[in-house]
Amino acid sequence: MYTWRGTLNDDELYDLVVSHGGKPERGWWNRIRPQSLGWVTARTGQGTLVGFVNVAWDGSGHAFLIDTKTRDSFQRSGIGTRLVRLAAKHAKASGCQWLHVDFEPHLRTFYFDACGFRSTDAGLIDLRSM
Ligand SMILES: CC(C)(COP(=O)(O)OP(=O)(O)OC[C@H]1O[C@@H](n2cnc3c(N)ncnc32)[C@H](O)[C@@H]1OP(=O)(O)O)[C@@H](O)C(=O)NCCC(=O)NCCS
Repeated sequence: MYTWRGTLNDDELYDLVVSHGGKPERGWWNRIRPQSLGWVTARTGQGTLVGFVNVAWDGSGHAFLIDTKTRDSFQRSGIGTRLVRLAAKHAKASGCQWLHVDFEPHLRTFYFDACGFRSTDAGLIDLRSM
């Protein structure tokens, strides 16, 4: 089941990040939630969290997709694509015109082909270098 702004707790998100080999931080969910336009959760029929994506925003027309995650054993079954589709639908319904994302090169097929993003110029500064 896919839910916009569905109930979620920090332990569930921690466990999801561990599952795909990420480096989770305790308390992360409680810190990001106040900055979020919304998020999508994917759960099995038994309620296990198997997918998550967050949508940050600028308070106006721009939404930023971040932290797309699918539980390791559920990857490559279409969950990530559905998470992004629902996030885009709700960002539009919230009045946003643009949905931004950035990602590592190996995920080009996921974001461009499966999710429908197009390439654009973007910029990045590693603030640790300043
Ligand atoms: C990226 C991620 C969210 C994709 O989720 P998913 O549920 O497996 O995605 P889907 O099943 O919807 O994939 C749709 C298509 O995207 C492409 N794709 C998905 N994951 C891919 C990967 N790791 N490498 C290359 N292509 C990939 C494939 O073409 C796939 O179709 P196919 O399975 O028929 O070949 C998942 O791999 C993940 O959680 N990775 C770890 C966390 C991460 O790196 N998140 C990205 C942050 S920017």
